[in-house]
Amino acid sequence: MKFKRTLVTSALPYANGPVHIGHLAGVYIPSDIYTRYLRLKGEEVLHICGSDEHGVPITIKARKKGITPQQVVDEYHSIIKKSFAEFGISFDIYSRTSSAIHSEVASEFFRKLYDEGKFVTQESEQYYDPEAKSFLADRYIKGTCPKCGNPDAYGDQCEKCGSTLSPDELIDPKSTLSGSAPVKRKTKHWYLPLNEYEPWLREWILEQHKEWKTNVYGQCKSWLDGGLQPRAVTRDLDWGVPVPVEGAEGKVLYVWFDAPIGYISNTKELLPDSWEKWWKDPETRLVHFIGKDNIVFHCIVFPSMLKAHGGYILPDNVPSNEFLNLEGDKISTSRNWAVWLNEYLEDFPGEQDVLRYVLCANAPETKDNDFTWKDFQQRNNSELVAIFGNFVNRAVVLTGKYFDGKVPADLKPEAIDKETLSELQPLRESIEKNLDNFHFREALKDAMNIARLGNKYISDSEPWKVAKTDLDRTASILRTCLEICANLAVAFEPFTPFSTEKLRRMLRLENLKWDDLGKTDLLEEGHSLGEAVLLFRKIEDAEVEAQVSKLKAAKAANEAAAKEAAAKDAAARVEPQKDEISFDDFSRMDIRLARVLAAERVPKTDKLLKLTIDTGIDQRTIVSGIAEFYSPEEMVGREICILANLAPRVIRGIESRGMILMAKQGDGTMRLVAPTGELTPGSVIG
Ligand code: MF3
Ligand code: ZN
Repeated sequence: MKFKRTLVTSALPYANGPVHIGHLAGVYIPSDIYTRYLRLKGEEVLHICGSDEHGVPITIKARKKGITPQQVVDEYHSIIKKSFAEFGISFDIYSRTSSAIHSEVASEFFRKLYDEGKFVTQESEQYYDPEAKSFLADRYIKGTCPKCGNPDAYGDQCEKCGSTLSPDELIDPKSTLSGSAPVKRKTKHWYLPLNEYEPWLREWILEQHKEWKTNVYGQCKSWLDGGLQPRAVTRDLDWGVPVPVEGAEGKVLYVWFDAPIGYISNTKELLPDSWEKWWKDPETRLVHFIGKDNIVFHCIVFPSMLKAHGGYILPDNVPSNEFLNLEGDKISTSRNWAVWLNEYLEDFPGEQDVLRYVLCANAPETKDNDFTWKDFQQRNNSELVAIFGNFVNRAVVLTGKYFDGKVPADLKPEAIDKETLSELQPLRESIEKNLDNFHFREALKDAMNIARLGNKYISDSEPWKVAKTDLDRTASILRTCLEICANLAVAFEPFTPFSTEKLRRMLRLENLKWDDLGKTDLLEEGHSLGEAVLLFRKIEDAEVEAQVSKLKAAKAANEAAAKEAAAKDAAARVEPQKDEISFDDFSRMDIRLARVLAAERVPKTDKLLKLTIDTGIDQRTIVSGIAEFYSPEEMVGREICILANLAPRVIRGIESRGMILMAKQGDGTMRLVAPTGELTPGSVIG
């Protein structure tokens, strides 16, 4: 073995929302399984994580809520941290990037690269809000999508049609800070010239890490084949780690520059005196667990940063997962299409392991995968309950019944017992191989196969029947079963730690190690078992149906809210000003006050009213398209404004002379324009 210890990192989640099952399945369940496995093996291992608290979306959230970015991240940092703890994700430290130590470490990192001339600077034109006196991140610019006409597209993306955009493409762009039109302004930024690292990256990844998962390797290859460009590592923003050099006022480190350094600063926070051996000793193996949208940052950008800095080890592997969908639809925070961890625990208190199990059994390891509540129920009922739980329960309860809860001696062994137990060792080997290669689903299947083995064995050998005639043989059978139970307590520990803790307590075996897996003498004769408790319970149809309804309701509520918001937005949309006209043009219009004397619908139309009007000069007929907004009864007696000298037109066979003035909103609704007090018909408006 080349390595002495393993440093496991899990992607730092953004502190702008709680965590959901997609996060858990993609990153934190696999990393936790892996870490627990190494710990059980007695290896030296550290698992580092924390909140990623910088970046533009957090500032946008703060602005929306009318609070500071720090308040936003304070809130979500504690929610996220609590969820992870509740689900048994066993980090050695869960810290955060708004900490002082992180700022210090990230600044020093930047400063060293800066001092050694590792950056290039580039001036570029960026959008700037002259009213708010601030540069604008793409997200801060809104305008009309050139592709679908959505009036609320962002400078980086249209959420309606999904197109990736740049602010230049938006029609009629506006700053969301002040509403003013952004202007372009020159600004200077520091770039890491990734192009210079390309030959090295090609060799390091494409030649030396062919063993990386194909999804990871493939993405790296396509990035490298596409050619790398210098990447800006600074931004004009007021939230983040300030750029620690002169002439960089108002600039911060780009969030993707500072966040991965968070792995280092969090390690340093945990181990101020010995952190360096975890990051600088080539005998340390660094493994990054991430989701697929993070691959380029962890395989190309961060390693280039580490290489530029020097002295640091590089990741030995980056086992990235694909995405988890939910009930056939992409998980979405904004559409509230997610299972939130905090909400899951309200509905399934104490049942963390069920979710852990299902998310691992169904993990999106090689392709996107789907979580459904039906599958959740099924896996619980037919695997956890019917196989694992049922087997353990029968073994422990029968031992209680026939042997007073004490491990019996193997008094009448038969070939089948040895044969059954001999299957444990190959299963262990398979689990290990799978875990070592990050094939967690397969490893979990192997673990479940141990339970299957036990369940089949106990069913076939029927100790409850044998007990009626042959207690010695019953002793052998139960002894075999209990050894399998002890093996289960080891094999499942990385996957379902809450249940294995219960199981260990039932067996009163507290100090099991990975090395015990495969052994068949874990329990001493006469050893007293603890009380039998159920490891899992059946989940009823009604429970999962309630979850599906909850999701659908959330979706419906969300769609309704989105519709309402869109309608509001449309109503508020303001027509741009028309082309300029002369005073003469204006004074040629005869606008005057009039009164409605009579009104009726124009037959066979939905929109038209025929109105008889007193204009002060005459009585005349005007046909107007306002029937959607006013009934004939509402119109009679009203004072209105008309354009009197509009050339007559024949509408539906009726001569209409003049036009009623209406105000039209962005969503098309119309209202009459009327005087504020009594006025005589015929009064001229101008
Ligand atoms: N916050 C990022 C995300 O959720 C992950 C950051 S990982 C780190 O996609 F390496 F930058 F820390
Ligand atoms: Zn669009």
